[in-house]
Amino acid sequence: MQKADWIWMDGELIPWDAAQVHVLSHALHYGSAVFEGIRAYATPQGPAVLELDAHLERLERSCRVVHIPLPFEREALHNAVLETVRRNGHPACYIRPLAFRGEGPLGVSPLTSAVHVIVATWEWAGAHHAGAKEEGIDVCVSSWRRMAPGTHPAMAKAAGNYLNSQLVLVEAKQNGFHDGIVLDVNGYVSEGSGANLFLELDGRLITPPLGDSILPGITRGLVMQLARELDLELVEQRIAREMLTFASEVFLVGTAAEITPVRSVDRIPVGSGQPGPVTRSLQAAFKRAVTGQEDRGWLTLVGGA
Ligand SMILES: Cc1ncc(COP(=O)(O)O)c(C=O)c1O
Repeated sequence: MQKADWIWMDGELIPWDAAQVHVLSHALHYGSAVFEGIRAYATPQGPAVLELDAHLERLERSCRVVHIPLPFEREALHNAVLETVRRNGHPACYIRPLAFRGEGPLGVSPLTSAVHVIVATWEWAGAHHAGAKEEGIDVCVSSWRRMAPGTHPAMAKAAGNYLNSQLVLVEAKQNGFHDGIVLDVNGYVSEGSGANLFLELDGRLITPPLGDSILPGITRGLVMQLARELDLELVEQRIAREMLTFASEVFLVGTAAEITPVRSVDRIPVGSGQPGPVTRSLQAAFKRAVTGQEDRGWLTLVGGA
């Protein structure tokens, strides 16, 4: 069960069970909420939050595009995250900031409904089953498409966008796959249901560009940085569906997924069917960085009380 002692809500820590909303909250009816998914890792100096300010910046951008005036400055939210992790006593955890429209007149316009912000934390292993990062996962190409440009703001981490992710994930699981890959409206590879995608083909590491209906993942950015340091040839380029079949390696990256190898797409093995050397070396470099074995400035220590 995902649970902790405290949730930060609208400026104060309150007991987990006291963090309630009304059933007529605007967000519940019209999806007027934005959120973040962040991780704190165990390091020799105690828990440390990965790329906290990059996540808060994306939260601010998501708010801007869906007209949620965030009632807290960056510094207040930064401190709220650290305080919540600290008070809950997690050695490592998942962190979920959420800004949403609550009580107000129940019509489509969100503008007169109250804005609330919470930060919840809990100890969570990740997106996939134990062993997924070592063995790889089986994915399908979804029959659903990502939202087309100009429909939903795919670059915002908006709650309403996740109806698309739910459709992709449930379809994949019902058909016996671990996850689904979604094509954009033009038929190019976009991303996973909750992670960005990279593939290795003909000596190049390729990931879809921001314009192909992807969430600009924080992990995607970190993996690109690591790839450059490893002297891999990296390109942001449109990916035709069949490139998933030609690729020698495919992997998904995200806060929940970290770096998860894909071992088959639509039952066709990727490369040898085993996670490849590029995936392995990126996983190792990522692990060293997030667990504080190498200082890259990516971590914010939670610190003592
Ligand atoms: C749809 C989608 N794409 C990509 C990502 C990866 O983003 P990040 O690395 O910031 O977690 C996520 C995860 O939050 C996601 O939900």
